[in-house]
Amino acid sequence: MYVWDINLRIFHWLLVFFITFSIISAKIDNLFLHQYFGSISLGLIIFRIFWGFFGSYNAIFKNFFYGPKEIFNYLKGKKVNNKKTGHNPLGSLSVFSFYILITVLSISGLFSSDDILFDGPLVSYLPEYTIHFTKIHNLSHYFIYFLITIHILAIFYYQLIKKQKLINQMIDGRPRNYQIIVEETKFNKNVLGFTVLISCIIIPIILLV
Ligand code: HEM
Ligand code: HEM
Repeated sequence: MYVWDINLRIFHWLLVFFITFSIISAKIDNLFLHQYFGSISLGLIIFRIFWGFFGSYNAIFKNFFYGPKEIFNYLKGKKVNNKKTGHNPLGSLSVFSFYILITVLSISGLFSSDDILFDGPLVSYLPEYTIHFTKIHNLSHYFIYFLITIHILAIFYYQLIKKQKLINQMIDGRPRNYQIIVEETKFNKNVLGFTVLISCIIIPIILLV
């Protein structure tokens, strides 16, 4: 029985890798490699959208989406829906912010240019908007630094202070909190998910080569 199925865990650690290297490659001005890391990050988000509808219980969006009222009630200390055990309302807000921000970053990146040596692969389709996309791209990367910082601080707070082993849970998928709803994903579903995940990584690479 798993909290996070195998595909969700692979997705998470690959996302950590590709987002980190998107940032590093941009900062060392290797925009050629940057477009690969960024486009694969977009591919991972496409996989995650698929898995948000067809994945295991805690991966499915409707099982961890909270409306503004639920978030507000949570902040006021009221009990939350006990069917949504994967993320609390603030965790859920940060997860959806990640999906949206990475989508904005990678799509704007495809249409961005450094105005010297490198044009994003889709710049020629909307050349009159390159300047706007580049502005959006350069501005939104600050938000991802902010989100990553909050995310890591929150995870370490739960891990070290509240002694809830969230990191171990994201590594081996096994529940440490017995209130949490778990599900045994069927082998065929895992294989389907893995095939979609790999395709979402390979297709951007093929399109860029
Ligand atoms: C889809 C693929 C992507 C492409 C083609 C792309 C393209 C670009 C380009 C052309 C620049 C240079 C802009 C300039 O010189 O003003 C840039 C900068 C940058 N990109 Fe991307 N990008 C992509 C995805 C991402 C993603 C997913 C991130 C996530 C963190 C990211 C983070 C950055 C950062 C941090 C910079 C440097 C900004 C700065 O120092 O002001 N990019 N990108
Ligand atoms: C670039 C850096 C990172 C990004 C973009 C990122 C992104 C995410 C996303 C999107 C989720 C939600 C997973 C889902 O789709 O359901 C998540 C969950 C999680 N992440 Fe990260 N993450 C990053 C770094 C890290 C690091 C460094 C750690 C651990 C040291 C970590 C530990 C976790 C854990 C434990 C969860 C599950 C949270 C929970 O149980 O509520 N993440 N992360």
